Amino acid sequence: MDDRFNTIAGWTLFAGIVALGGSIVAAELFHSERPENMGFPIAGVVEDGEDTEAEKPIAFYLASADAAKGEQVFKKCTACHNADKGGANALGPNLWGVLGEPVGKGHGFAFSDALASKGGTWDWDTMSAWLKSPKAFAPGTKMTFAGLSNPEDRANVIAFLNSRSDSPKPLPAAPAEAAAPDPGTAPGATDAQAKAGSGTNDGAQKAEAEPVIDAGKKDVKGGGEADPTKKN
Ligand code: HEC
Repeated sequence: MDDRFNTIAGWTLFAGIVALGGSIVAAELFHSERPENMGFPIAGVVEDGEDTEAEKPIAFYLASADAAKGEQVFKKCTACHNADKGGANALGPNLWGVLGEPVGKGHGFAFSDALASKGGTWDWDTMSAWLKSPKAFAPGTKMTFAGLSNPEDRANVIAFLNSRSDSPKPLPAAPAEAAAPDPGTAPGATDAQAKAGSGTNDGAQKAEAEPVIDAGKKDVKGGGEADPTKKN
């Protein structure tokens, strides 16, 4: 009986060890599942932070936008829209020449009140805001499209829409913030910085020599070092 008891105890122990080993392996395997965003998102705050960090004004992206790429993006829209001259309205209005048109008025389309009462015209900024999130731009809109969160996609599709027009507008230049560092301003700026830099360094060196070192070491090194400060 003792032998049998030992055998049972041995197997039980063994089973325990196997189970422990298994759980360690399982923990290793499934360990990497962490929430995408750590912590508790505070409504508004976190989102704003992410958005403003990543995104520059749409003009920045439009400056290097590519209508051909925009035509690819526009495939997401063709279930409801076409951008052909004289094209028919479908689930959504025909979009020929939409940039510069009044918001929610054109092409004899039966717009929702939400969009028709929005006011203003489609310019780069309103179009970008609309395509980023139709729902946020005109709550209650009939355009059941989630939006294009990627600003480059938006800029490209806006450039494409702009090209589908009797009178395409010139794409905006990059805003000053983005344009400044690149061309003629850069050398001037560095020159100015270099001059300003050497100036402040001179100042700093004098300041170091005068009060700190001399005040502390006058007694040790004697009058020899104190003389220059008197001249200054
Ligand atoms: C599921 C169908 C659907 C999809 C997909 C869709 N739209 Fe729309 N779109 C609509 C509808 C419907 C309206 C009218 C909205 C309203 O009246 O509230 C509209 C309106 C618009 C307008 C306003 C037109 C005007 O004259 O004021 C623009 C611009 C527009 N869509 C562009 C796009 C672009 C660009 C895409 C793709 C990135 C897209 N839409 C995807 C259905 C759609």
